[in-house]
Amino acid sequence: MKTKQTVVVLGSLWGDEGKGKITNYLAEKADVVVRFQGGDNAGHTIVFDGKVFKLHLLPSGIFNPKTKNVLANGLVINPKHLLDELSSIKEMGYDFDNLYISDRAHVLFDFHILEDEVNENKRGSNKIGTTKKGIGSAYTDKIARYGLRMCDFISPDFKEKYKSIIEVKNDELLQNGMKAIDFEQSYKEYQRLADILRPMVCDTVFMLNNLYCEGKKILFEGAQGTMLDIDFGTYPFVTSSNPSIGGLFTGTGLAPNKIDEIIGITKAYTTRVGEGPFPTEFIDSLADDIRIRANEFGATTKRPRRIGWFDAVVMKYSANINGFTGLSLMLLDILSGIKTIKVCDYYTLNGQRIDAPLADLKLYAQVKPHFIELPGWEEDITKVKSFEELPANCKKYIETIEKLVGVKIAIFSVGPDKYQTIIRHEIY
Ligand code: IMO
Ligand code: MG
Repeated sequence: MKTKQTVVVLGSLWGDEGKGKITNYLAEKADVVVRFQGGDNAGHTIVFDGKVFKLHLLPSGIFNPKTKNVLANGLVINPKHLLDELSSIKEMGYDFDNLYISDRAHVLFDFHILEDEVNENKRGSNKIGTTKKGIGSAYTDKIARYGLRMCDFISPDFKEKYKSIIEVKNDELLQNGMKAIDFEQSYKEYQRLADILRPMVCDTVFMLNNLYCEGKKILFEGAQGTMLDIDFGTYPFVTSSNPSIGGLFTGTGLAPNKIDEIIGITKAYTTRVGEGPFPTEFIDSLADDIRIRANEFGATTKRPRRIGWFDAVVMKYSANINGFTGLSLMLLDILSGIKTIKVCDYYTLNGQRIDAPLADLKLYAQVKPHFIELPGWEEDITKVKSFEELPANCKKYIETIEKLVGVKIAIFSVGPDKYQTIIRHEIY
């Protein structure tokens, strides 16, 4: 069998699936860790040296000095938040000579955050419930061809380019009842940040392709999830990038035939933050109980997450889009002690069977989940070391998911610690 050189970790659902834990685990064996889409809307919780970190922009390999960490061209990068994150890890004793930033990545400025707020307010009760990090506004400028990229940010022409943008943005801010940005002050601050970031900015397309040719092991760290994908998610209640597999290729410049393994991360149940349809959601004391036990509050915005049963319809859709070679089932231990566990195998709408999420959200919000009911297990599974040690009902749950989704569960997790990550099929 060909050894695995490139591994992708993707969120299968609405984000927060536990990608941080798996990327952190795999990052130890990788030479390079790459973020390729999104920005600091991500919140990846990782445990390193016994300490808990919440990373928003930095790739999970940042704590390992031997690992190269790349913020590739597909990202929108807030330089202020990036430096805040770098400063906080420096304070904890870690250095960052191992960070590389794409010269083609777009820069997310303060006015993008203000625009995000304006847009959300304008939507009123139809608000998306964004993370308010300016992500949608920065991608809007990218697509509209107004954006400034890292190569502009660090160039001697930055002042001029920033000035012409600020003039337009200030007009818009004033029209929307917001305060204008003081150009001189804002420019000076960004110039200082640009000077710090300049040595890290490079052509990551060239770099990644060379590292690939040298046989280096590369780990791609997805952010958000397929149901938040601008093309495949529950539009418009989505993010503004492609968290699904396509985003990796446009976001890095590495070709599809160079990818060996695509791991879809999913929880043993489902969660969602923000607005939008969520067919398997349940709102009762069990949902509250799961929320508390699993600390289901957003890492970025602290909002309580909505809770639902495992949705095999959505997972199958996600597996088709992404070509998952394996799944990683997270937080399995949280289901211990629940008498009956449900898995949605299809939906119905007006008496008709539906086997895929619907594009029309009004209709998708009306589908009724059909559930298979499985007997739960009482046993504490937080200390099991293999699939074989799991209670029979838990094995049955895993096998039911594999059968419905049509993809093997390669990894499962029975607790927050690293030793509680059980690898059934070796990845690297
Ligand atoms: P990680 O990487 C969960 C959601 C927001 C909102 C929608 C749009 O930690 O899984 P945005 O700020 O991106 O314009 O918000 O997307 N969202 C996430 N939900 N996890 C994330 O990242 C998310 N990033 C964005 O809640 O519904
Ligand atoms: Mg998150």
